[in-house]
Amino acid sequence: MTFDIPRYKLNDGQSVPVIGFGTYPLRGVDGVDAMVHALEAGYRLLDTAVNYGNEEEVGEAVRRSGLAREDVQVTSKIPGRHHEYDQAIGSVEESLRRMRFDYLDRVMIHWPNPSVGKYVEAWRALVELRNRGLVRSIGVSNFTEQHLHAVIEDTGVTPAVNQIELHPYFPQQEMLRVHTDLGIQTEAWSPLGKRSAPFAEPPVSEPTKRYGVTPAQVILRWHLQRRSLPLPKSATPQRQRQNLDLFGFELTDAEVDAITALARPGGRLFGGDPDNHEEM
Ligand SMILES: NC(=O)c1ccc[n+]([C@@H]2O[C@H](COP(=O)([O-])OP(=O)(O)OC[C@H]3O[C@@H](n4cnc5c(N)ncnc54)[C@H](OP(=O)(O)O)[C@@H]3O)[C@@H](O)[C@H]2O)c1
Repeated sequence: MTFDIPRYKLNDGQSVPVIGFGTYPLRGVDGVDAMVHALEAGYRLLDTAVNYGNEEEVGEAVRRSGLAREDVQVTSKIPGRHHEYDQAIGSVEESLRRMRFDYLDRVMIHWPNPSVGKYVEAWRALVELRNRGLVRSIGVSNFTEQHLHAVIEDTGVTPAVNQIELHPYFPQQEMLRVHTDLGIQTEAWSPLGKRSAPFAEPPVSEPTKRYGVTPAQVILRWHLQRRSLPLPKSATPQRQRQNLDLFGFELTDAEVDAITALARPGGRLFGGDPDNHEEM
């Protein structure tokens, strides 16, 4: 028994479920099973990337779920090594071929790869792919305010989303403000904090008892109330269902602020150096 997940409206007129399913590092037969379970649990947004090496599995999971293609949103990402215009076009065409889809709901630039400095070229390619109808909506990931302004000034096209690291130890107050000012939807990667999830912190554990929910549910609800779009990954069907069960309770503003105040210097999971990022 599933339900319709509420949606955010994007700046290009498309809409997107307020929570999606992270697919890294799900691969192989077990990966497909985990993604099919997620779709059965009610997720309608799967987040992948060329660098996750699981685009075939994502396509297979959508087909195996029995859901119509248009009822599931699939997003992928161009890697930092494919930023030259023709390479970026070819990269997305290859993603489509691997998934056996004729369009993608959203494609992002995985990270700006600033030492190469060709992310504006990649953005022009995404604009072209959207014009051709191969991609419904286009966005970026791991962009700073400066990178966002560079692509907007070059093309006049504002990314629909920016997918950034965001969790209670790294709450990204400033980028949320930048995104609101520019009309960009925030997506949150590692929304639970992955290896260093703050489940035992009182601002998380106290509402857990108050509302009879789990620490993960409290953190994911915090994302929704700050209008960010979390992409939790879980290989476990029970956790997948739990992570989607966020609409029967509401945190107070004070509870939201207390979780945001868990911010700590060095709260980033990947040490701020995208070159060391295992996925990019
Ligand atoms: N754009 C980027 O650069 C970028 C970077 C990193 C990640 N991402 C995206 O973001 C997604 C999520 O990020 P992530 O996997 O790093 O972090 P995450 O979703 O914050 O954490 C995943 C971890 O939390 C565990 N977990 C999930 N639900 C739980 C629950 N209810 N209770 C306890 N533990 C729970 C999972 O274990 P089990 O699987 O065992 O349940 C897994 O170990 C990725 O899959 C990917 O799609 C994007």
